Amino acid sequence: MIGVVLAGGLGTRLHPLTLYTNKHMVRVGCLPMIEYPINVLAEAGIKDIVIVSGGEFFEQIEQYLSHGNERGLNFHYENQNRAWEKPKGIAHALSRVKKIVGKEDMAVILGDNIFGMKLDFNLKEGMEAKIFLKEVKNPERFGVAEIKDGKVISIEEKPKKPKSNYVVTGAYVYKANVFDFIETLEPSERGELEITDVNNWYIKRGKMCYEIIEGFWSDAGTRESIKVAEEYVIKSGLEEKILKKYPFLNSRKEWEKLFK
Ligand code: G1P
Repeated sequence: MIGVVLAGGLGTRLHPLTLYTNKHMVRVGCLPMIEYPINVLAEAGIKDIVIVSGGEFFEQIEQYLSHGNERGLNFHYENQNRAWEKPKGIAHALSRVKKIVGKEDMAVILGDNIFGMKLDFNLKEGMEAKIFLKEVKNPERFGVAEIKDGKVISIEEKPKKPKSNYVVTGAYVYKANVFDFIETLEPSERGELEITDVNNWYIKRGKMCYEIIEGFWSDAGTRESIKVAEEYVIKSGLEEKILKKYPFLNSRKEWEKLFK
């Protein structure tokens, strides 16, 4: 299985920070945001990880993470769009990894998603994709699952009237047939190739399995959510755990000295 971190987008909800830096390099605690999704893949035993980014600061991620060997990982990079091009959505970013991935299954995670638990990226027998759902109080900000008789029957992207409180988090598993489907996708009203359309294709064909996750999950793409995520990674010790795992990232003490 190959890991994929989708770290594109403009990060407009974190302006003015993201006028100078790639959104995924913004710190959550002491660490750049992207450390957390990478940690989820690494904890699942995935060694090969493709990172897709774009825009004027896409090289920052590659400069920071490098080849990954000091973490026992292999990082590969794909550029989604040039600085002057508008990114075309999460499904478009995913299509960029086709050549590297080949026929392998993929564990995909959004670069701004912070998970407080390990994820099981194994597919159930006969299934071709997997999503991870989380019960939240504000579902209208996310992709929302409609569940009937224990089955997800559809997902709606940011609905005004959510059909449940179960939202689709930014972690997915796909078989390589995802690339053929993305080629047939039309852009949505906001001009993007939507990951929700991809997921609905698997659901309609009865090939999607799901898991409801318990414990902490948040995106870190808005001013409010980044604060929530930061409080969690510090209090829960997740930040410290990653810092200890990779001593070259230094310690919280050193970071605190810097900002005294
Ligand atoms: C994206 C997806 C949405 C999902 C969310 C999770 O939304 O489109 O379905 O629930 O990530 O973080 P975005 O954050 O790009 O608005």
